[in-house]
Amino acid sequence: MTRNVIVTGAAQGIGFAIAEAFDKEQDRVFIFDMSKNKAEEAAQALDQGYDYAVDVTNESQVEKAIQEIIKTYGPIDVLVNNAGIQYIAAVEDFPIEKWNQVINVIQTGTFLMTKHVLANMKQQQKGRIVTISSAHGETADPYKSAYVASKFAQIGFTKSVALETVDQGITANAVLPGPVRTSLIENQLANLASQDHSTEQEAMEQHITGKMPMNRLLEPNEISDTVVFLASEKASAITGETISVSGGMNA
Ligand SMILES: NC(=O)c1ccc[n+]([C@@H]2O[C@H](COP(=O)([O-])OP(=O)(O)OC[C@H]3O[C@@H](n4cnc5c(N)ncnc54)[C@H](O)[C@@H]3O)[C@@H](O)[C@H]2O)c1
Repeated sequence: MTRNVIVTGAAQGIGFAIAEAFDKEQDRVFIFDMSKNKAEEAAQALDQGYDYAVDVTNESQVEKAIQEIIKTYGPIDVLVNNAGIQYIAAVEDFPIEKWNQVINVIQTGTFLMTKHVLANMKQQQKGRIVTISSAHGETADPYKSAYVASKFAQIGFTKSVALETVDQGITANAVLPGPVRTSLIENQLANLASQDHSTEQEAMEQHITGKMPMNRLLEPNEISDTVVFLASEKASAITGETISVSGGMNA
């Protein structure tokens, strides 16, 4: 049966790979992203992709888009909270605007999206919520304080949602990827290198691949199958969990 699946931040990177994976399952995939053009392009690359220019930090945009989908296509079956941003700075130099921005996108965005699908999922007595936290939801790294704080927070939030919905056919879980080859990683290398007074290659080794036993960047499609599994009937007894897809970082 075709499901209605919302993936935030799905215009590129891990979100797009997740959108492609649900598309292969013959689901309808709703791409929520800040970037209207890129969201449109991503939706066009799918068999049943629909683009929505939504900033997940904006409650009225979030609510309007979700209500539009319910009215036009029916209930929301799956929400994937994937949108995220990074900012690199030592705590004493961290601008409050950047702190707020990271927390708003990752933490508040996850809250707002979840808040506005839950009434509908509760009415259906079914639903799947998968939140893309990070290995940094369990382990810190210097210069990423806002990101690490909000990735930890997503896990706590997921566990609360799991308990609030546990007897209503809804599950909420978090996937914790290790380093994945996307622009989020590529764009932080120069800043990490400048904090460490090192080269970008040294920063990659020090902060990213060196902490990972497989010692390589993962590909976005190595994350998406776990998300599809958690959204499936086969995962009906899994809720409030964190599942790492990290190349052995917890070994
Ligand atoms: N790349 C990694 O190594 C890695 C590792 C662990 C976790 N993650 C997490 O995976 C998720 C996706 O990361 P990625 O690497 O694909 O990043 P990316 O930068 O390639 O893509 C992020 C997408 O989110 C969108 N976005 C940003 N702010 C938004 C907002 N306010 N509203 C809607 N969309 C917004 C961007 O436009 C972009 O399309 C993030 O939550 C990230 O923290 C990434």
